[in-house]
Amino acid sequence: MAGKGKSRWADDEDDLAAEAQRKREKEEKKRLKAEKARKQEEENAAREAGPSSAPREGPARDDEYEDRPPAKRRRLSPERTAPEVSSNPNASSKLLRFEGGTFGRSRSVENYNKLNDIEEGAYGWVARAQDRDTGKIVALKRLKIDPKDRSGLPVTGLREIQILKDCDHKNVVKLREVVVGDDTTTIENIFLVLEFVEHDLKSILEDMPEPFLASEIKTLLLQLASGVAYLHDNWILHRDLKTSNLLLNNRGQLKIADFGMARYVGDPPPPKLTQLVVTLWYRAPELLLGATRYGRAIDMWSVGCIFGELLTREPLLQGKNEVDELTRIFELCGLPTDETWPSFRRLPNARALRLPPKQPGHVAGSSIRARFPLLTSAGVSLLNSLLALDPDRRPSAREMLEHEYFRQDPKPKQEAMFPTFPSKAGQERRRRKQTPLAPVRGQQAAELGSVDFSGLFSGREREERGGGFSLRMV
Ligand SMILES: Nc1ncnc2c1ncn2[C@@H]1O[C@H](COP(=O)(O)OP(=O)(O)OP(=O)(O)O)[C@@H](O)[C@H]1O
Ligand SMILES: [Mg+2]
Repeated sequence: MAGKGKSRWADDEDDLAAEAQRKREKEEKKRLKAEKARKQEEENAAREAGPSSAPREGPARDDEYEDRPPAKRRRLSPERTAPEVSSNPNASSKLLRFEGGTFGRSRSVENYNKLNDIEEGAYGWVARAQDRDTGKIVALKRLKIDPKDRSGLPVTGLREIQILKDCDHKNVVKLREVVVGDDTTTIENIFLVLEFVEHDLKSILEDMPEPFLASEIKTLLLQLASGVAYLHDNWILHRDLKTSNLLLNNRGQLKIADFGMARYVGDPPPPKLTQLVVTLWYRAPELLLGATRYGRAIDMWSVGCIFGELLTREPLLQGKNEVDELTRIFELCGLPTDETWPSFRRLPNARALRLPPKQPGHVAGSSIRARFPLLTSAGVSLLNSLLALDPDRRPSAREMLEHEYFRQDPKPKQEAMFPTFPSKAGQERRRRKQTPLAPVRGQQAAELGSVDFSGLFSGREREERGGGFSLRMV
């Protein structure tokens, strides 16, 4: 380049002076522009706030921000505080501050003495432990490795912590703190310290010689609905409600636990939620049919399954796989029709299903009444609505709380009058029958392929249906 005259870059005094002038003009222009934008924003804010102008989140309007490009839209993220960005020592910060919480160092798991394992399953580990300082008994739950997160953030673990931290309800298990083991680089060394609860409903149901009384079932269901209503009011979907995730203490109080599948959702819910959620036996038909847009009704379906399980002490719909689960659902709740579930054909897996043709006299409706002959009509009506195939027809948890079933005799039993059960978790590991595990994040939902349900109800015609009863003719 040498010899080709002056360089393009400023390298003599004239150039430098011209450059400095250009810079000054540019800065002045920028200042005027920012000033104009600021005025405009003030006017907009005054117009939006109206006469009763309450303090609102919004862009900072401090002078020290003048050289910043004008904000085009309302800034929702907190601004950096003035000292970081301003060299003006007198600049007073008029920023609205956001409560962000602070990060503190987690205490060590060494602050607890392990007493006994409660559960050591395929993925999880939960133990009973004692706080060395206070002597308080707690449950320690080790966060699970999530295969999808191996090299990244443990999303489900973080969600579980976040949601439990935010919850404060008597029917939701309490998180006392999060503690860490020696090797803090692995998620498996992070533990949730939870309030210790003596039983889980699954272990109780498997061991109890007599089923729960109707009054006890009502109390349990009211508490479950109350906890679920709290979650749903706070935009949380649990997505894995089942009896082993419901804890019961010796004072008859039920606590919803295991938020490993839970997540916050808005209204309307995001269009593409994980399809593979909820343990198979408690999974709603819309999920089995491939819905990725779903809402609170999936938890209400699980509540219906739990209701059935409380009545018989057996899980209600024990499918061996997705197709078998769907078969059992249709057998119990009836086949979907344009009347019972108008939007059903639009679900991804519904197209491949062959359903029996409509025939006069063909009985393909719900058999819930027949399956629970001792349940009152109000009980059947509640169970029928919770297990409605169409998610839009299931009641919300708040509506469930108001159901007639809970007002009829026998009235719900007072929690304090609940029977006590020997606590397995208090002494030894809880042993349970093998049941399907919760789905693992990142796993693919099974393809249903083309499924033939056309023979599902052959034989039903031979059932004679009376007032509330269904007799099978042999
Ligand atoms: N706070 C607690 N107090 C007493 N026992 C508890 C507590 N939390 C969990 N458990 C017991 O540990 C079991 C497993 O806990 P949890 O469901 O939270 O873990 P998980 O590993 O996510 O389970 P899974 O994947 O099997 O659903 C529960 O079924 C219950 O028996
Ligand atoms: Mg669980």
